[in-house]
Amino acid sequence: MKILITGATGFIGSSLTSYLLSKGYTVNYLTTDRDKIKDAVRYHGFYWNPAKSSFDLKALDGVDVIVHLAGASISKRWTPRNKQQMIDSRINSTRFLYQTLKEQKHQVKQLIGASAIGIYEDSLDYIHQEDSLRVDADFLGDLVTQWEAENKKFEELGIWVCLLRIGMVLSKNDGALPELVKPIERYYGAVLGSGEQIHSWIHREDLIYLFEYAISHQLEGVYNAVSPHPITQRELVMDLKTILKKPVFFPRIPTVFLKLILGERHILVTGSQNVSSKKTLNAGFEFKFPEIKMALTNLLK
Ligand SMILES: NC(=O)c1ccc[n+]([C@@H]2O[C@H](COP(=O)([O-])OP(=O)(O)OC[C@H]3O[C@@H](n4cnc5c(N)ncnc54)[C@H](OP(=O)(O)O)[C@@H]3O)[C@@H](O)[C@H]2O)c1
Repeated sequence: MKILITGATGFIGSSLTSYLLSKGYTVNYLTTDRDKIKDAVRYHGFYWNPAKSSFDLKALDGVDVIVHLAGASISKRWTPRNKQQMIDSRINSTRFLYQTLKEQKHQVKQLIGASAIGIYEDSLDYIHQEDSLRVDADFLGDLVTQWEAENKKFEELGIWVCLLRIGMVLSKNDGALPELVKPIERYYGAVLGSGEQIHSWIHREDLIYLFEYAISHQLEGVYNAVSPHPITQRELVMDLKTILKKPVFFPRIPTVFLKLILGERHILVTGSQNVSSKKTLNAGFEFKFPEIKMALTNLLK
């Protein structure tokens, strides 16, 4: 089976690519950076640039499934310019992909998109299922809502659409975890904000398996990509402290201070989303790391 990945060179895409290759899939990928184009056995890179309407159509040859991960990082400062780039890189690239498929002959049957739990309203007690109507009214909620709507349009082309709403991805060297580990190892670790906010997280390995599961089981619709056991910020820091065998001297960094340092982006650490994985479990997916202690021990050993 041949999979085409956009954003394949990033944090999620690179490990997804390795896993799919190990399972015998052929991977074509689209990159906006010509230096990242490689050609190897069952692994072929192609250039695209949605901003310049450029697309190497050979990338579509024989492709059964598209995994759409492209988008500028949201961890940069949320300046008006960077926010616009976060929007354009997602909305315009999705529209461009849609238009290309509409105009070209292809055999794509399924599109799997990397959505985000940032679509859900910040709440300490509400448990979000996929049909939750409590949508975040700020920048992230708006971005994800717009992005999902663009992706759902592929259904008009007869393509099944599966959207994975991804939570906080835990990985040893990238993403949120190293940022949490560093201060604890250097003895200035602290709980961020109230400590009561809920993090719905997923081990990167489980996320990669879930993408493959969505391909091999032809999943359609929206699925939360989070472990079955969300935790509070305080529990996360305390578990890290225990596993790393380090003290946490500072009780907590107040939200007001985080707002000052991070600006609007503080929501990425102080926001609270209790997200359910029930639908994902009911689809038959089994998490290798359902509990935070298992995940952290695996990643930090
Ligand atoms: N990581 C998370 O915790 C998380 C959580 C929820 C949702 N997601 C979503 O999952 C997707 C992948 O996340 P990630 O962490 O792997 O991101 P990443 O490491 O930042 O990689 C994203 C990739 O998108 C491509 N890209 C960047 N700017 C682009 C542009 N202007 N036009 C087209 N492509 C562009 C780049 O590939 P090339 O340089 O090869 O073009 C880049 O490697 C993102 O859309 C993100 O919103 C991630």
